[in-house]
Amino acid sequence: QALRSSFARKAQKPNQTQYGLQPQASFKVAILGAAGGIGQPLALLVKMSPLVSALHLYDIANVKGVAADLSHCNTPSQVLDYTGASELANCLKGVNVVVIPAGVPRKPGMTRDDLFNINANIVKTLVEAVADNCPDAFIHIISNPVNSTVPIAAEVLKQKGVYDPKKLFGVTTLDVVRANTFVAQKKNLKLIDVDVPVIGGHAGITILPLLSKTKPSVSFTDEEVKELTVRIQNAGTEVVEAKAGAGSATLSMAYAAARFVESSLRALDGDGDVYECAYVESNLTELPFFASRVKLGRKGVEALISSDLQGLTEYEQKALDALKPELKGSIEKGIAFVQKEA
Ligand code: NAD
Ligand code: LMR
Repeated sequence: QALRSSFARKAQKPNQTQYGLQPQASFKVAILGAAGGIGQPLALLVKMSPLVSALHLYDIANVKGVAADLSHCNTPSQVLDYTGASELANCLKGVNVVVIPAGVPRKPGMTRDDLFNINANIVKTLVEAVADNCPDAFIHIISNPVNSTVPIAAEVLKQKGVYDPKKLFGVTTLDVVRANTFVAQKKNLKLIDVDVPVIGGHAGITILPLLSKTKPSVSFTDEEVKELTVRIQNAGTEVVEAKAGAGSATLSMAYAAARFVESSLRALDGDGDVYECAYVESNLTELPFFASRVKLGRKGVEALISSDLQGLTEYEQKALDALKPELKGSIEKGIAFVQKEA
């Protein structure tokens, strides 16, 4: 939807075409982990954005070919490649949005938390470089376990003295994309109309779709609520099992991440009507980080949408109570990881 509405804007600016040499805005986007399963299709989708003037692709290997390939697309943004730690600082200078899908994905039988030992270090190192080189950028964390990697990023930024909680996001857009798809299929609704807020976190029972808040308003039986909730919570595992050892969701994730990038760029560009779900520092519950709908603006999170949490059904309220201990543990694990290394 965000991509579509952004492309629709070109009609309002007849002197600049999406595929002309001039982008409609001059934002710079960096993707860290750009040669990976998510990174490559995400780079392609961001290359299509009329709001981007420069796309910086960073990875520890194989990024030169990805950038050369992508640079032949006749869309406005310039594509630059950066390989290895020595080129990371240059990749980040002057960037408005940094997207981080670097890290290892799950294999069947693993939880997202099983990725902690490898990905925690990767995220910590990359966010240190973000703090040093583009502390004002929006930071989109995709690397799992998101419930812990976002608190890790926050701690790193705090230690560097540049933490702005309004600009740090755990990307949970895929949960919304899945919820919208599954609900539309189940209830025979037009896909484009369906919007389901998903709150909590991004792992198992911490993913809580608020089906009672679905737009357009739609009624579900108790069985439908249970079935849909469990499917949305297990959708990542559904893909991991189907890929049978070859990784986790990459294409749907790239689609979701591109939507979140485009929403961020629209907000940075002054659009006053941008809402997305994201895992952010929050005071909506007693947990320091929590996914909810947020209003995005030029300075990042402008408001947390608290109304979604009011008037929950008994099922949703119980699920919310049940997810809190797990989410709290994952947050504390992330914070402890950075503090013990300090
Ligand atoms: P992948 O293995 O295909 O790609 C990861 C890329 O990261 C590789 O190109 C690798 O070289 C790179 N990389 C590794 N260490 C790096 C470092 N220090 N600096 C820069 N790049 C580095 O994996 P993928 O399928 O793209 O998944 C990436 C991550 O995204 C995983 O942790 C996965 O669990 C997570 N993920 C999150 C969501 C979500 O909804 N938030 C959805 C899907 C996947
Ligand atoms: C997803 O939800 O698809 C991702 O978090 C990847 C995974 O490990 O399931």
